[in-house]
Amino acid sequence: MRVLILNGPNLNLLGSREPEVYGTTTLADLEAQISAWAEPIGVVVTFHQANHEGDMVEAIQQGAGLDGIVINPGALTHTSRSIGDAILSVGVPTVEVHISNVKQRESWRAESLVAEAAVRTIYGRGFSGYRDALRHLVNREAVPIRTLRYGPHADNVADLRLVSDGANGLVILVHGGFWLREWERDTMETLAVDLTGKGYATLNVEYRRLGEGGGWPGSGHDVLTVLDFVDQVPELSMMSRAMIGHSAGGYLALWASNRQRARSVGLTVGLAAVTDLESLARSDRAGSAQARELLDSGAPEQVDAGPAKTLLVHGEDDDLVPRSHSIRLGAAAEVEVVPGLGHFEMLDPLGEHWPPVVNALSAVFS
Ligand code: DQA
Repeated sequence: MRVLILNGPNLNLLGSREPEVYGTTTLADLEAQISAWAEPIGVVVTFHQANHEGDMVEAIQQGAGLDGIVINPGALTHTSRSIGDAILSVGVPTVEVHISNVKQRESWRAESLVAEAAVRTIYGRGFSGYRDALRHLVNREAVPIRTLRYGPHADNVADLRLVSDGANGLVILVHGGFWLREWERDTMETLAVDLTGKGYATLNVEYRRLGEGGGWPGSGHDVLTVLDFVDQVPELSMMSRAMIGHSAGGYLALWASNRQRARSVGLTVGLAAVTDLESLARSDRAGSAQARELLDSGAPEQVDAGPAKTLLVHGEDDDLVPRSHSIRLGAAAEVEVVPGLGHFEMLDPLGEHWPPVVNALSAVFS
């Protein structure tokens, strides 16, 4: 897969430019890092940086025929129609990336004139946004998605991946990210693609997050709605169902599948799941402020294993969500603590935590 990495105005000054916002990594270092991310996932990258709008447009035009573009248009994001038009003109799947959290800075940065032309916008994840953009392009190409709308909000959508000759079942995926806006469902896609390869249809759910109607009860409501929604989609309604939630998405998956009872979801899997909001809120860990916000809005202090089979898998070295969140449910759920793994390794199907999940799926779907 051939992908152009196109950086816009002032990104040549990375390293010295506003280090409190953009860090101290130079563009050359970033490009070296991107190459290192690209190689193992089979992506050949080329790089271009331009300070002028016309140069950006020409670089996009010259990218016609490529398999993807990753673009950080800098401040042109907020002013340029011609960049969006260029993307539409060449028809190359393009992911828009911003290093900083453009939704939490000056209000004019929250608007992108490029987003409509892009297949996805990733922001506020620092430099790793470029890695996630490459992964998204690879995963889109691996298994095509059909995005279904299950509610009125822009985030009430879910990506369906079907398998060609009849699925063994449907796996509903709920992403994590402490209910923050910058973390979206693309983080679950590598697992979704792996599962479709194993014969499962997948529905990768987006839901409202804090600051856009989410938090509590919004995020929980959305995930619950998805379970009702699949009953209305003819090609999905007859399939057996499992739910897999990562991190904060584990909290939502456990809560929603328990509300629906075993009738609907035959297996619930938490990957490094948050199960104890109260202890997270009391800690000084990442996510504590968001946990407090959910609790203050009436979210349950803890979620437990319900009547359906529940498997909780946690990396022993997880320093974001401690393994105690899974271990506390040991009496009612199957719990696997996997040595040598941290929080984000749970999203990689090559990890040692994944075979137990796949085995549990085949057990409930057989
Ligand atoms: C940026 C955000 C833009 O608002 C800004 O003008 C940039 C960089 C980012 O990567 O966070 O130049 O795109």
